[in-house]
Amino acid sequence: MRLVDLLSKKRDGGILTREEIHFIVKGCTDNTIPDYQLSAWLMAVYFQGMNTEEVSNLTMEMAHSGETVDLSSIQGIKVDKHSTGGVGDTTTLVLGPLVAACGIPVAKMSGRGLGHTGGTLDKLEAIPGFHIELSTQQFIDNVNHNQLAVIGQSKDLAPADKKLYALRDVTATVGSIPLIASSIMSKKIAAGADAIVLDVKTGTGAFMKTEAEAEALAQAMVNIGSQLGRQTIALISDMSQPLGYAIGNALEVREAIETLQGRGPADLTELSLTLGAHMLVLGGGSDHYEAAYKKLQAVIENGEALAKMKQFVDSQGGSTEVIDNPALLPQAKYQIAVVSRCEGYVESIHSEEIGIAAMLLGAGRATQQSTIDLSAGIQLIKKTGDYVMADEPLAIMHTNNQNLDAIHEKIISAFAISNRKPQPTRLIYKTIHH
Ligand code: URA
Ligand code: CA
Repeated sequence: MRLVDLLSKKRDGGILTREEIHFIVKGCTDNTIPDYQLSAWLMAVYFQGMNTEEVSNLTMEMAHSGETVDLSSIQGIKVDKHSTGGVGDTTTLVLGPLVAACGIPVAKMSGRGLGHTGGTLDKLEAIPGFHIELSTQQFIDNVNHNQLAVIGQSKDLAPADKKLYALRDVTATVGSIPLIASSIMSKKIAAGADAIVLDVKTGTGAFMKTEAEAEALAQAMVNIGSQLGRQTIALISDMSQPLGYAIGNALEVREAIETLQGRGPADLTELSLTLGAHMLVLGGGSDHYEAAYKKLQAVIENGEALAKMKQFVDSQGGSTEVIDNPALLPQAKYQIAVVSRCEGYVESIHSEEIGIAAMLLGAGRATQQSTIDLSAGIQLIKKTGDYVMADEPLAIMHTNNQNLDAIHEKIISAFAISNRKPQPTRLIYKTIHH
């Protein structure tokens, strides 16, 4: 096989066979295909697309291009959850204990934050003592014992995806549905998922800016799951404002604790219960969605979800005292209000701008090498639909920085204030099953 023939085939709209896709992914992994040919192939896929079978084959080949995680020694169906990335999205911290408290195993590999989006590993590290480095055996033992463990994604997972993603980044080929869908699903499959619940965000803080794009990506991933025998459900959820009120690592841990205590923000609670109910159904913990949803509400009310959070934190070396007393979480030196300059209804809150402002306060990373300040972030006071008076606070900046003028302006401009009451926001636009 010669790559140049596969390039002309795809360029002209042909369908690549499993063997041909194997050849490309193998050549990518072992560096026998030069980057310029891989780049040309990515561009051909960008323009010609791929059918479901091709995307599924690409997913499987990338999933098996490196280490795969064998979770077979964990009893039960392993359901993974993936979010395409938002601002202030604290759902994993809530969902993990919630679903585990209902007896469904959650073996989660998570990532770190970059740019305007946060990462679960960073948030967990805001808990004093918490560590995310467990051996594979410890990880599996913890899940068998507590139904819940969270570790960092292994560096050797889906190396072909890592290389292709880096090439896409510099060849203007990131925004291709087949390439995004196979990239995400390959990592879920390599991480050992039997079933997958996807939260595809849409709006100003999301990777997919429009509902139509989000739906196309969701449908592509559900199709892959179905082809590959992994039951997959995708939600399209709103990211036209940040989720909850807290953006920043320690602040979000606190918000997750409050949500597990039943006094969290309405949107974060609703999204966590919805994603969790789908996880419970796919994991065999409930026959149908409504029953699963009620079961999750019950473990919040009876304190089992919070107790599970403590057990989980303890099992990974974290201080459980912070669960009872979140004031023990890292606190920033300065808390400075951002006040509105005019009166009116909050029409929208530009998530990406808020995410960038939180990053500039120290909560996030501009590059992979940046260090973060776990105590920093933004606490929203107003959300979409709220009325604000002139000189009333919109948000509080938590920071150890002193040079705040530009960040302050950024937060003010992220809030669109209008004299007409906006339409109520919808949290979940759609649910996509096969
Ligand atoms: N996230 C991924 O993991 N891959 C993509 O291609 C895009 C977003
Ligand atoms: Ca939040």
